[in-house]
Amino acid sequence: MASSPGDAPLRIISGSARGAKLAPVPKDVRPTSDRVRESLFNALGQFFDGGAVLDLYAGTGALGIEALSRGMERATFVEKNGKAATTIRENLRRTGMEDRAEVVRGDAARAVERLRENGRQFNLILLDPPYRIAATEAKGVLMRLGVLLAPDGRVVVERGDAPEEVLRGEKGVMRRYGGTVVTIFDRFDLTVNVAVCPGSFDPVTVGHLDVIRRAAGVFDHVVVAVGANHVKDAMLLPADRARLIEKVTGDLDNVSVEVMEGLLVEFARDKGARVIIKGLRAVSDFNSEFEQAQLNQTLDPEVETMFIMASAKHSFLSSSAVREIAGHGGDVSEFVPGEILESVVEAYSGTRPDARRRIKTESKG
Ligand code: PNS
Repeated sequence: MASSPGDAPLRIISGSARGAKLAPVPKDVRPTSDRVRESLFNALGQFFDGGAVLDLYAGTGALGIEALSRGMERATFVEKNGKAATTIRENLRRTGMEDRAEVVRGDAARAVERLRENGRQFNLILLDPPYRIAATEAKGVLMRLGVLLAPDGRVVVERGDAPEEVLRGEKGVMRRYGGTVVTIFDRFDLTVNVAVCPGSFDPVTVGHLDVIRRAAGVFDHVVVAVGANHVKDAMLLPADRARLIEKVTGDLDNVSVEVMEGLLVEFARDKGARVIIKGLRAVSDFNSEFEQAQLNQTLDPEVETMFIMASAKHSFLSSSAVREIAGHGGDVSEFVPGEILESVVEAYSGTRPDARRRIKTESKG
C-alpha cells in the first residue's frame, strides 16, 4: 500500500543518504511506499555506478533521490504540481543532493519532447503516473521513452491497481507488490517500429491486403497511406478509398489508415516511420518502384523503402484490372475482399476507363 500524508515520514532506504527523513508528503501526492521502493530497487540491482536518472511524475522525488543515494550521478525530476515540486527541492536539500539534480516544473509529455529534442539520454527512467492520469496518456509517454534511454538503460513504471487491459500484451518484466504493479522495460521493449504502406488503393485488392497483413506481422504498427493529391484520375475520393481499407483491415489491431497529402517521406517522418513498405509483383513493377524508391531516398535518406513480394496468386492482380473488369460489369469477387465487394461493384461498375476519360474531357470544356 502507498503511504499517505500523516503516515510515518518517508526515508531513503539505502546508499549515501540512507535513513534520511524526507519532508511531509503534500496533499494529492501518492508516494511510492518504502516497501515498494525497496523491492523495486532490489529488482534493479542494489547499486548504480554513475549515470543519469529521469523521474517523471516525480511527486516527492523519493524514487529519483533513492537512485542518487544508490550511486547514480545526476537526476532530472519532472513534476506539474507546484507543492510537490517544492517538496522535491526540500528533499534534495535534506539529502544534500541539490547540486546533482534539476527540477522541471511542468507536464511530463512536454518535458519528454524537450528532452528528446535536446538529445538527452538516461540510464534509468522512473514513471509513477498519478491515478487520475488516464492510462492511455501514461502509455503515450511510455512509448516515447525509448529514444531517451541509454543502450543498457531501463524504464520502471509503477502503477497502482492497473487494469488488466492496460497491461495485456505489454512487453517488459512485471512484478506485483500488493496492489502496486511495477514493470521494468529495456530499450528493446520500448522500440516501436512503424512502417508506412502507401498507395492509390483505387480500389484496395486482395493483393494489397496480403501485403498489409504481412507488413503488420513484421512491424509494431503499419500506417496505410492513401494518396490524395497526386492520384488525379482515381475513381473514388481519398476518404472513400480509406474507408474501404479500414473495413478490410478491421481485424488488424496494429494497422491504421490515413489519407496522405503531400510528400510520402514527410508523411512517414510525421508518423515516426523509418520504413516505407511497397508490394512488388512482376518485373513490370520494378522500374517505377525503383525510381520512386530512389527519389524518396534522395528526399530523405533516413527513410528506407522495403519491398514485400506479392504472393504468386496475386502476381497479375492490380487495381486497374479491377476497375477495368468492374467497369465492364465483370465478376471481381476473386480480386477484392468479400466485405467490400458490393461497395466496389457499386462504385466502379459502368465506369469503363474510356467512359471516364470522356467525362473528364467534357467537364474540362
Ligand atoms: O499505388 P501507387 O499508384 O503505386 O501509389 C503511388 C504513391 C501514392 C505511393 C505515390 O504516388 C506517392 O508516394 N505519392 C506521394 C507524393 C510523393 O511523395 N512523391 C514523390 C515520390 S514518388
